[in-house]
Amino acid sequence: MKPSATAAAGQAEANHADPPPTDRAQATDPQNPLQPAQHRQLAARAIGLSKVYGSGDTQVRALDDVSVDFARAEFTAIMGPSGSGKSTLMHCLAGLDVASSGMVVIGATELTGLSDKKLTQLRRDRIGFVFQAFNLVPTLTALENITLPMDIAGRKRDADSQAWLDSVIDTLGLRDRLSHRPSELSGGQQQRVACARALAGRPDIIFGDEPTGNLDSRSSGEVLGILRQSVSALGQTVVIVTHDPRAAGYADRVVFLADGQIVDELREPTADKVLDRMKNLEQV
Ligand SMILES: Nc1ncnc2c1ncn2[C@@H]1O[C@H](COP(=O)(O)OP(=O)(O)O)[C@@H](O)[C@H]1O
Ligand SMILES: [Mg+2]
Repeated sequence: MKPSATAAAGQAEANHADPPPTDRAQATDPQNPLQPAQHRQLAARAIGLSKVYGSGDTQVRALDDVSVDFARAEFTAIMGPSGSGKSTLMHCLAGLDVASSGMVVIGATELTGLSDKKLTQLRRDRIGFVFQAFNLVPTLTALENITLPMDIAGRKRDADSQAWLDSVIDTLGLRDRLSHRPSELSGGQQQRVACARALAGRPDIIFGDEPTGNLDSRSSGEVLGILRQSVSALGQTVVIVTHDPRAAGYADRVVFLADGQIVDELREPTADKVLDRMKNLEQV
C-alpha cells in the first residue's frame, strides 16, 4: 500500500519539528558563511554547480549553474529526462565526481579543495549510498554486509551505535534475514539490506541513483517505503534519482532537471502531478 505523501510528510514534520542537535551540528562554526543558519538544518547544498565534459565540438555541459539545498530529514526525488544531468549532479554532490565550477557543501564541509584522503573519509563517514545494482558482497551474510563499512572503518560498536543498528534492522524488517546471504534474498530484500548498510553509519545524507531501477514494482514500493520510513522514523536525509513517478508519492519534494538545469520543483508531490510535469519536460 502506498502511503499518502501528505500524511508521510506530516509525520516527518511531527517527528522532526525539533530534531536533537547532533555532534556535527554542535561542531559547526557560526562564523563560516558557508554554514547555513542552524534552524535551516541543511544536510547538503550545491551552489552554482557546473560540469562540462570534453572540449570543442564534443563538449557537453552536463550541469549548468545548479543551486539546490537539501534540508535534513527530508526525502527528495530528482527527476528529469535521460541525459538531463541527474547522475552527474548526484555524483558531484556525493564527492564521486568533481564539478568544473561551483561548490558542494555536505553538512558544514565544503568539498571543493578537500584532499583525496579527506574526501574519501567524508564519503565513508558522512555519506551513504544505495546503488541500482545493490552492490552487496555475495560471500557475506546480510548482517555482515550491513556492518561492513563500519567494520572496515574500524568503528567500535558502542551501546548507542548498536541501538541505532537495531532500530535500522527492525524498521527495515530485516531481523529474520540477517544470517542469509544475498543469493538467498529477493531483489527487494537485497536492496533493503543495501539501504540498511547505508543507514547503519548514520550518515549526514543518503544518495541513491535509481535505487529501484532493477526492481519489480512490488519491490520498488517496498524499497521506497523503507526510504520513506528512514526519513520519517529515523530522521535520515535521503536524495534519490528516479524515473518512477510513483516514487513521488513517497518523497517530500521532487526537483526536476532538464538540460543540466533545475527547471521545476514540487512539494508534497503526487504521481499525477509528477507525470504532468514530466510530460512537459519531455516535449521541450
Ligand atoms: N563521463 C562522461 N563523459 C562525457 N559525457 C558524459 C559523461 N557522463 C555524462 N555525460 C553526458 O552528460 C550529460 C548528462 O549525463 P547524466 O548525468 O548521466 O544524465 P542522466 O543521469 O540524467 O541520464 C549527458 O549528455 C551525458 O551524455
Ligand atoms: Mg543517470
